[in-house]
Amino acid sequence: MCQADIRVFGFPEIISQVKLARHMIVAIDGPAGAGKSTVARMVAQELGFRFLDTGAMYRAIVYAALCQNIPLEAPETLSDFALRQKIRLDNDRVFLNDEEVTNSIRTPEIANAIHYVADNVQVRTCLSELQRQFARTARNVVTEGRDQGTEVFPDAECKVFLTASATERARRRQEELAARGEKLTLDEILEQQNRRDERDRNRPVGRLRKAEDAVEICTDRLSTIEVVRQIVDLVAERRTTSS
Ligand code: C5P
Repeated sequence: MCQADIRVFGFPEIISQVKLARHMIVAIDGPAGAGKSTVARMVAQELGFRFLDTGAMYRAIVYAALCQNIPLEAPETLSDFALRQKIRLDNDRVFLNDEEVTNSIRTPEIANAIHYVADNVQVRTCLSELQRQFARTARNVVTEGRDQGTEVFPDAECKVFLTASATERARRRQEELAARGEKLTLDEILEQQNRRDERDRNRPVGRLRKAEDAVEICTDRLSTIEVVRQIVDLVAERRTTSS
């Protein structure tokens, strides 16, 4: 059984409109490069909610499997192995069997192999359950991924589908890579991005799609702060209408 030990953390800056929130899930889904992680983190901080980075869970499983030479293309072996791993999220830090893997899971090697784990139904079921467990413990959560508003938290009070044009997403990725000293052309990045989008949109379970009741925000011409503000306002609005 997958295990999670997710500690409580809190931020002092709680905006007044949502101060009295008793239980709320803000689900932010969207393709890679739409800005989900940065935005979701900032929204969580602004609201005093806990942040759940579900991509980190998938990455941690791939990392573990690669380290132990587990054959990724053997679904049953992979899921048996995955179910025995202990993933712990602590603020922005990710631990795998008590080893910190926060930075080690963010490599191109992991990104290229992630589809083996993301396509594996047993692993998805287990990680989805861990995510629900996280939400039960945390109560107020901002979660981000591909399937949060559709499969994992279909009843989430507030759902956002964050998008950006393919070129803008690739441009952002190029900047991110350049900051790490990696140089790739826009075409190379676009090609990788298209491949990943295709896989994320077409997997049999947990595929990337907008929930019917999600609010779509295209981030192309918006600053991060503007996107965060829109989501925080939406949360406040939902809070008012549901109380
Ligand atoms: O968000 P991040 O880029 O870290 O996610 C890595 C990969 O994990 C995604 O490309 C996607 O294939 C997979 N993923 C998923 N479901 C989620 C979160 C991530 O399938 N909820």
